[in-house]
Amino acid sequence: MFSATPLKGQRALVTGGSSGIGAGICRAFAGAGAAVGINYMSSAGPAEEIAGEIRRAGGEAMTLGADVSDEAQVRSMFERFVAQFGRVDIVVANAGIQKDNAFARMELAEWERVLQVNLTGEFLCAREAVRRFLAQEPTALSRAKGKIICMSSVHEVIPWGGHVNYAASKGGVMLMMKSLAQEVAPQRIRVNSIAPGAIRTPINKAAWETHEAMARLVELIPYGRIGEPEDVARAAVWLASDDADYVTGTTIFVDGGMCLYPGFADNG
Ligand code: BGC
Repeated sequence: MFSATPLKGQRALVTGGSSGIGAGICRAFAGAGAAVGINYMSSAGPAEEIAGEIRRAGGEAMTLGADVSDEAQVRSMFERFVAQFGRVDIVVANAGIQKDNAFARMELAEWERVLQVNLTGEFLCAREAVRRFLAQEPTALSRAKGKIICMSSVHEVIPWGGHVNYAASKGGVMLMMKSLAQEVAPQRIRVNSIAPGAIRTPINKAAWETHEAMARLVELIPYGRIGEPEDVARAAVWLASDDADYVTGTTIFVDGGMCLYPGFADNG
């Protein structure tokens, strides 16, 4: 039986939860019955707004400032989350950035920062999640002992010139996720990724804000439209829920067919 609140009573921490895909996931998780921890990096305002929205709708939410690439800040974020909600059932390692540049011009700092946030940040949050899941008593709320969702990208498989740091970070997320999923499956911890394509968020505003840019972007999307954060959020709710209890070590592509080599549709 499918439930309208498949995450009822569970506690979910979402990194990068104050904007874009992360914000969509926070709203959808709250709608599905979870208490939500909304992590943000620098400005509390937008996170507070989403938390207020969730509370006004009768849900539970808290905000958590932390840089996911900093070990001590990640530990303290989980401590604050558990102090408030008692336990953690779901972690979405979503926070991510781009610092684009042509390869020959790319600064070491641009390379390192993207790897620190997108790959090391997901490692630190997933590691803290696993430690917590193993230490907690199981509940009747979910068949798994805990669930981790890594935010990847179509660029875990599609090479992306001008964004070599970003593509490398997402390629890293792919095998980190699969190796971790293999390691902790016997403990009944499920680990999966979502690989969004082009989703209408601040990270890729330049690719959709003008008519011309959008027309070029849509050439890459067989389904003929840009994605919305809700498209990704619905997949996240499903992956976090017991409806996906037999799913682990998988990347779900939510990309309108971007990975289908659209250039070959009338060529080759
Ligand atoms: C990037 C976006 C891009 C999309 C499709 C995402 O992972 O963050 O900037 O539009 O991939 O290329």
